[in-house]
Amino acid sequence: MNRINIDNAAAITGSVTEQVIESLRPAAIEAARTLERGDGAGNDFLGWLHLPSSITSEQLDNIEQTAAMLRNECEYVIAIGIGGSYLGAKAVIEALNDNFAAYKPASGARVLFAGNNIGEDYLYDLMQLVKGHKFGIIVISKSGTTTEPAIAFRLLKDMLEQQEGKQWAAQHIVAITDAARGALRKLAGEEGYVTYVIPDNVGGRFSVLTPVGLLPIAVAGFDIRALVAGAVAMEREGEEIMATYAATRNALYRDGKKVEILVNFDPRLHFLAEWWKQLYGESEGKDGKGIFPAAVDFTTDLHSMGQWIQDGERTIFETVLRVENQNNEVVIPRDEADLDGLNYIAGKRVGEVNKMAELGTQIAHVDGGVPNILITLPALNEHCLGQLIYFFEKACGMSGYVLDVNPFNQPGVEAYKKNMFALLNKPGYEEQSKAIQARLNG
Ligand code: PA5
Repeated sequence: MNRINIDNAAAITGSVTEQVIESLRPAAIEAARTLERGDGAGNDFLGWLHLPSSITSEQLDNIEQTAAMLRNECEYVIAIGIGGSYLGAKAVIEALNDNFAAYKPASGARVLFAGNNIGEDYLYDLMQLVKGHKFGIIVISKSGTTTEPAIAFRLLKDMLEQQEGKQWAAQHIVAITDAARGALRKLAGEEGYVTYVIPDNVGGRFSVLTPVGLLPIAVAGFDIRALVAGAVAMEREGEEIMATYAATRNALYRDGKKVEILVNFDPRLHFLAEWWKQLYGESEGKDGKGIFPAAVDFTTDLHSMGQWIQDGERTIFETVLRVENQNNEVVIPRDEADLDGLNYIAGKRVGEVNKMAELGTQIAHVDGGVPNILITLPALNEHCLGQLIYFFEKACGMSGYVLDVNPFNQPGVEAYKKNMFALLNKPGYEEQSKAIQARLNG
């Protein structure tokens, strides 16, 4: 069956009993009801809840047409955005791509990302890479004023206009932003860019199934209809497993497990974990509480973080993303000399060895006092990823309500911005500038 599943058996063998987990299930189900009724905290940001089932075929057609234009007419398409305006697309593209896609000839435009950091050399290297090549831009910002993407867009827009002329540039820049407000909406109107809307009631970290995620994913050549279909299946049938996840992680948290580590055994899931970290970190880390979301790539990190996880402070639990089937078969060959002593696994698939590493790790960690939750994906394909995305989104809303926080705001992210603006003497920040300078000068 092409359905993802969840298993809390390992959590039960850890420090939390089935009874405790089950005792929180009613709270998780009630949280789902609160989301459906729309009368909980942050209820003006619930637009993502029925997004999968409400996207129309015409909307998908339109996104696919824009994607095809960019794919066919550009060598590179640079998706500019930060946080929720980039992580979903990056996660899905990395999960579906050939591991070495960057080093192989591409059949359409290559999707690159910018505006998710302020690395000077990153931007320099990117501009050197696309110099003299046809490139398009998808600029994504709900507010239209976020510093990191604004800097990248100013630089790349300027470069594109100089390189290809204003008209060509305007035809190959797509803006995804608020329906009416913000600097980007105004500029897009003036320049005549193709635009898409980030609905008012969909927060950045819940926006991957809007054009924010769907357009870059389609430009990368992946099937956004299958992705959405997977999300629809989870929206319709996934409540029980989402409740299991929300109840289990809250039970573990109440039992002193303050850190959740999302574990993968497939390197293509690295950015899925980055997306998940944002989703849960921004949604739950507030009011002095919340599970700290961390992530590791196994078996790679078993050789770095493995020691800590096995033997360090017992305040952690793991949620393991298990991919049942790999797309390709690689068999370990027999070697006459057998100097490396590997003949005992000759003839086995690499994936089989990986699975035994996974099982062995799970047993070791549970024995070491690290409860495990297991989420199983039949394969890494669009349908399964669509399911997983919606699973984590709704379980996050449910979990946030069980924790008794508003999962849909992020007041804490403003603090660094205020200091940065004060340090850069941004107009309007004169008082803060004086105060911060006085503090720095002792
Ligand atoms: O989840 C969120 O709301 C944030 O991570 C935003 O997505 C991020 O800060 C980018 O904001 P914007 O799209 O307004 O540029």
